[in-house]
Amino acid sequence: MKHYPRPERCEQAPLLHPPYRASLRRAPHRPLIQIPHTLSELTGPLYGHNPIGETDNDLTRQHFGEPVGQRIIVAGRVIDEDGRAIPNTLVELWQCNAAGRYRHHADNHHAPLDPNFSGAGRTLTDENGNYRFLTIKPGAYPWRNHRNAWRPAHIHFSLFGPCLITRLITQMYFPNDPLLPFDPISQSIPDERARQRLICHLDLDLTEPEFALGYRFDLILRGRNATPFEGPS
Ligand SMILES: [Fe+2]
Repeated sequence: MKHYPRPERCEQAPLLHPPYRASLRRAPHRPLIQIPHTLSELTGPLYGHNPIGETDNDLTRQHFGEPVGQRIIVAGRVIDEDGRAIPNTLVELWQCNAAGRYRHHADNHHAPLDPNFSGAGRTLTDENGNYRFLTIKPGAYPWRNHRNAWRPAHIHFSLFGPCLITRLITQMYFPNDPLLPFDPISQSIPDERARQRLICHLDLDLTEPEFALGYRFDLILRGRNATPFEGPS
């Protein structure tokens, strides 16, 4: 039976990181019990065959008009721990708008909603593991973790590998964001190199002249160079 090695602890955020206040409520108070992977975890259920819509990977064309903000292309490859492409896997993203506001009932940040921006997209990787989105650069937003706490600009990602236990949920950040050193969520990852793997890279080959900057963000589902992800490991 296929075996999925557990990630290195130092490369993943601990469940309890007191500067990230919500982790005080969420983190388990007792040691975790590791349960061997079961046959059903390793073999299914798998992502189904619901069709991906034409504009699902273009967040600038999901409404009547264009959203406000700077257009960006976010693209990369999804690979496994041995560098092999993960084809035909579902990549989902969600984000706030350019003003730093989510279209979500729980977001009461005093910033405008954009009627032309929902902030959610999805696509399937191609045969070489490539994915691509066109979206708007998200804004920073306050989040009340502590006085004057602001999240750096980020995009949330979810990926499905071959089965449910290879699902990855993470956040992508932007280069040289001055808020990153003050962000308890990204800083909860102890290893600096692992934190760097959550920062996308400006890619002029991906950039479309006079249209949109391109940012490359590769995702590694498991293994020593795994992209840091959220949740128990
Ligand atoms: Fe967020």
